[in-house]
Amino acid sequence: MDFPTNRQAPQVALQPAPRCTLVIFGATGDMTGRLLMPALYNLARFNSLHPDFRVIGIGHRRLDDEDFRRGLKESIDQVFAARGPQAASSFDPSVWQWLMARTSYLMGDFEDERTYAELIQALAAESGGVIFYFATAPGYFQTIARHLHDAGLLKQAGGRWRRVVIEKPFGRDLPSACELNKQLTRVIHENQIFRIDHFLGKETVQNILVSRFANSVFESSWNRLYIDHVQITAAEAIGVERRSEFYEQTGALRDMVPNHLFQLLAMVAMEPPNSFDADAVRTEKEKLLDAIHIQTPFEALQNSVRGQYQSGLVGGKPMRGYREEEGVAPDSRTETYVALKLGIDNWRWAGVPFYLRTGKALARRQTQIVIAFKDAGHALFRQSAQEKPPANTLVLQIQPDEGLFFHMKAKVPGSKIRIAPVSMDFRYADHFLTGHSSGYETLIYDCMVGDATLFQRAADIELGWEAVLPFQQAWAEGGEIHSYRAGSQGPAAADVLLARDGRQWLSLE
Ligand code: BG6
Repeated sequence: MDFPTNRQAPQVALQPAPRCTLVIFGATGDMTGRLLMPALYNLARFNSLHPDFRVIGIGHRRLDDEDFRRGLKESIDQVFAARGPQAASSFDPSVWQWLMARTSYLMGDFEDERTYAELIQALAAESGGVIFYFATAPGYFQTIARHLHDAGLLKQAGGRWRRVVIEKPFGRDLPSACELNKQLTRVIHENQIFRIDHFLGKETVQNILVSRFANSVFESSWNRLYIDHVQITAAEAIGVERRSEFYEQTGALRDMVPNHLFQLLAMVAMEPPNSFDADAVRTEKEKLLDAIHIQTPFEALQNSVRGQYQSGLVGGKPMRGYREEEGVAPDSRTETYVALKLGIDNWRWAGVPFYLRTGKALARRQTQIVIAFKDAGHALFRQSAQEKPPANTLVLQIQPDEGLFFHMKAKVPGSKIRIAPVSMDFRYADHFLTGHSSGYETLIYDCMVGDATLFQRAADIELGWEAVLPFQQAWAEGGEIHSYRAGSQGPAAADVLLARDGRQWLSLE
């Protein structure tokens, strides 16, 4: 048998997407410059956009097309510069020019119907589809949806499809998310709504399904009989940066848990779908989210830790404490770190704890899922005079250094039985050509071709909020916010959360 290590394996080439216009509401915001336009640049680089593709940016600021394009160029330059000199020199100006020749700006108030009248004019020549991308503050979602509907802009006929992409945060809690779903589906058909979670666009997140369901060796042991517990970590080294206004209102739980972390949880714990059809996959994910054990607020308090970073050194560089950041209240009780212990009420996972943690200003950027297997049933080697080596763990490394690492035990060569931990590593970069992508490329392309597999249905969102509700309720009544040093592993209390079960987090180092 031949197993090539196809170092030069090209990316799967995408057909150019169908003809369409992308209308971005909130086009002068951070998200458009930092995430959407770099993703469109990548799609253009691989010829995945239609020759007649267009972008119309809508924003409140008084700009003309040239000002708008200049601002976008500044943003993409910063994005490439941040990736290092090699990436910066790989920027292809001809691809950017191609994209900018198709990009225009419409100044308008999202609450003013004249904006939508102008949009009708601007879209008059579009014979293909239109994607309306809501990259605004969430407070505008309902208003924009209603105006689009009233202006007739959501009507579909023949090949003239209309889709709406809704960014997170989708609500602040269960009631507000239900209300938003209700309002949106009043004016937009559910199959026109694409609720985005960019984690689902990440290659390694999609690879969780392939690792599980294309390799029989894993799936046979993927259950409570063999797995001791699961850890899901999304650690960031950055602080709150320029987003303090948003973050003060949001905090780590809302920002990361019911969306990104629960998507990882669903991918790793769901049952095999009947097929990879959008609905088959989403139904299984939904069943898993529905099986998250709903805790009482008292249990939630016992099973959670909140933290807030104080000043420290991250990667050798000083970072201010959260309360010293511009725009943050000096007595802020917003959490920048959260660790939770969850259970899943189904046959496969009964009794297996899932520990989730996420935070800002931690030792390093590390998004990973650790599957910690149980010890071998019979302790054959207990006589060997050494400390017990750790049990097997499988690490699904989402970012950075994407890959899959299996930590196992092996005999140390020699006449005595000595056991040492060793590791079998698969790194994406060793096998495939990988590039910089944020996940938005895949999701924007999927929306253009009408594939909703990686987008969330209304129920996913509501089930996510339902599972975090007891934590929100418990914390509303007080409870401690533990401080942690920027650049550290997080608050010591998070270690205690696992230590009391005889377990420990995989270190972020
Ligand atoms: C966003 C959060 O949704 O995800 C940010 O609002 C967070 O606070 C970001 O930094 C993390 O995404 P990524 O792709 O950088 O891991």
